[in-house]
Amino acid sequence: MFNFTFHIPTAVEFGKGQIQAIPKYLSKQNRILLVYGSGSIKKNGVYDQVIHALQDYFYIEFAGIEPNPEFETLNRAVQVVKRENIDFILAVGGGSVLDGCKFIASAATYSGDALDILYKKQEIIRALPIGTVMTIPATGSEMNGNFVVSRRETKDKLSLYSDLVKPKFAILDPSVTYSLPQKQTANGVVDAFVHTFEQYMTYPVDAKIPDRFAEGVFCTLMEDGPKLLDEPENYDARANIMWAATMALNKILSTGVPQDWTSHAIGHELTALYGLDHGQTLAIIVPAIMHHQKQAKREKLIQFAQRVLDYRGNDVNIAAELTIQKICAFFELMGVKTRFSDYGIDDSLFPEVIRKLSEHRQPLLGEHESIDHQAVMEILYLAL
Ligand code: NZQ
Ligand code: ZN
Repeated sequence: MFNFTFHIPTAVEFGKGQIQAIPKYLSKQNRILLVYGSGSIKKNGVYDQVIHALQDYFYIEFAGIEPNPEFETLNRAVQVVKRENIDFILAVGGGSVLDGCKFIASAATYSGDALDILYKKQEIIRALPIGTVMTIPATGSEMNGNFVVSRRETKDKLSLYSDLVKPKFAILDPSVTYSLPQKQTANGVVDAFVHTFEQYMTYPVDAKIPDRFAEGVFCTLMEDGPKLLDEPENYDARANIMWAATMALNKILSTGVPQDWTSHAIGHELTALYGLDHGQTLAIIVPAIMHHQKQAKREKLIQFAQRVLDYRGNDVNIAAELTIQKICAFFELMGVKTRFSDYGIDDSLFPEVIRKLSEHRQPLLGEHESIDHQAVMEILYLAL
């Protein structure tokens, strides 16, 4: 088991009606920026609950953060923060709104050009505090320091990290997810599954806690994800999926283990170039990586097949086939297609995917740093 640091400073308020807990974490002196997306919160009652919770506080609203939050929009919010002396940011929405707020919180306290944070990965030395009402179980952004910002002008989608942007509190009310379109529910389940996979599907280091926790998350997502297709208002299934998604990327599953974020590295380029949803890109790439990396991942593939899929044997080829087949069937059952051709995409932009990847990432991906650009190209063709 590897050494690790584990630190989560986020208080979680989980369950029905918990939006009313927001004032516990605010002071009457706070000047709050309430940030949201394109208006789903006004249709499902979340906005009204938040406004009620904020009735005794000073706040200004900033709406219009788009899915895959756009640098230009976030920069406009940064100007509002500076002009209005905002000292607390409340993100109400999915991963895009929250990720956008993490960027706003960092850029508002940065004296240089905000583009430096994006491209030069300028170290973030200060950030405004953030709280969130998370409305999509998917990214785990509510309890981690990751944020992903896009720039459509240059077709860039860039991942950033800082301990300083981990939310101070996260309100997780599963009933606010009843209103999710099926596509977003499904994307979220796939995203959480793949986060778990990327921290698990590497090689064994006898780290029993993260392995067994991850296997619990896999089983929960596979059991309760499909229930939501027919029963979008099944509270317990919504609650299990919500907590599973948070646990999938709050770093508990990466304690002491190797990780392989190849599918996210490739997936971000696919969103930037083809406009695919984040969950769709992962559903396309993960099965192809499993094919390609079967030998490198053989011990964990067998462990996954035995413990999650009830495989009784010890043969890597059978374990790999079973894993790929079951994962594809699960994603497809959720309604997320698993091949480029399903989205009408051919190989013509594959060289551009590689070019963008080399612009944004280290040349070698994977837990053994063995996945080079040639291997990525092979993976893309396996996913056609
Ligand atoms: O704009 P609004 O009105 O909020 O509508 C959103 C949006 O259209 C809608 N929605 C959200 N909650 C809803 C709802 N509709 C009805 N009922 C609700 N309760 O759903 C749409 C998609 O929202 P978005 O926030 O984009 O989805 P998601 O949470 O999947 O976030 C995706 C973004 O997060 C990044 C992705 O790359 C992508 O940019 N990621 C962030 C990570 C992190 N911070 O740790 C890790 C992930 O791997 C991922 O990369
Ligand atoms: Zn993801």
